[in-house]
Amino acid sequence: MGTTIFAEMSALAVRTGSVNLGQGFPDTDGPRQVAQAAADAIMAGRGNQYPPGPGIPELREAVAAHQRRFYGLDYDPDTEVLVTAGATEAIAAALLALVEPGDEVVAFEPYYDSYAACIAMAGGARVPVTLRPPGFRPDLAALRAAVTGRTRLILLNSPHNPTGMVLRREELAAIADLAVERDLLVVTDEVYEHLVYAGEHVPIASLPGMRERTVTVSSAGKAFSFTGWKIGWVTATAELVTAVRTAKQFLTYVSGGPFQYAVAEALRLPGSYFADLRDDLRGKRDLLGGGLADLGFEVYPPDGTYFITADIRPLGEADGIEFCRELPRRAGVVAIPSAVFYDNAEAGRTQVRFTFCKRPEVLKEALTRLSALRR
Ligand SMILES: Cc1ncc(COP(=O)(O)O)c(C=O)c1O
Repeated sequence: MGTTIFAEMSALAVRTGSVNLGQGFPDTDGPRQVAQAAADAIMAGRGNQYPPGPGIPELREAVAAHQRRFYGLDYDPDTEVLVTAGATEAIAAALLALVEPGDEVVAFEPYYDSYAACIAMAGGARVPVTLRPPGFRPDLAALRAAVTGRTRLILLNSPHNPTGMVLRREELAAIADLAVERDLLVVTDEVYEHLVYAGEHVPIASLPGMRERTVTVSSAGKAFSFTGWKIGWVTATAELVTAVRTAKQFLTYVSGGPFQYAVAEALRLPGSYFADLRDDLRGKRDLLGGGLADLGFEVYPPDGTYFITADIRPLGEADGIEFCRELPRRAGVVAIPSAVFYDNAEAGRTQVRFTFCKRPEVLKEALTRLSALRR
């Protein structure tokens, strides 16, 4: 259903000339020097032929160095890092590798739409634990209760799309305790690791007992504003990486050779790059969030990601899907109904998701247009 609604909304955006705050991609590209590195790699003949299956050594080393630099995590670039076609392939390969038919996968809903599809492709059963507004904090007792003898793994996402919730250290510690106690694997999607505006990003792999049972997934798309390049990676033990690589081998085998060189360079950018990205997006979050609140939406300010969830009930609306289908015609803006991210659609019925990774003038234009709702 997620895919259907994204396609429908994007087509609607084009047809109606709407400001598209639906799908999450920036409207400005990442650093020029990184783009130049990709162009240079192509022209110098680096990566134009099949790169090595696990990814080019330069990128695997840069990923390992990044994990050490930001989180003090040590991974062997030769055996514990795998380059993938974006986080999307990393998630697919991890689930196909680790989930057997009939296994249960526990995940917080709402969830990023590829999770449900990948769990289904692996023949697994998803077991959702619902996050609820205003804070979308995890219900740890409900998580514990969701684990059964058939549970194979917990699928985490922090910072969390679509809610913007960032798991706190004590919440992660409780999840880690549960994983150790019940001998579960954790697959954790951390693509928004550098987009945190309050608190900090803590990789669950850094908690005691977790390194050996965690598959960490991330990618260059969000951190460097090159979502079209689709360079992602996995860090985990050699045994887990081998399992994920076995599945990956028959998905894409390899991808994005020249981009891998450029991302290796991006990962080495100074701390100021990451701070500037965060500060810029924080400003955009406040611009869109403040504007939506002024227009009467109930806004749930995100601590991370580039999405804002808002409730439409104060506008006299009751159904997010209907609201979003009508929004291009009523106001010339596209948003995504959060219900599509839930199994339990009722829990998200009155929420809609807007992205704020657009230029300030685009966000202001969207707000001006949305003021039509008040008339
Ligand atoms: C939570 C989450 N995981 C993964 C992805 C996809 O990442 P990539 O473009 O690297 O495949 C996205 C993109 O929107 C996302 O929001």
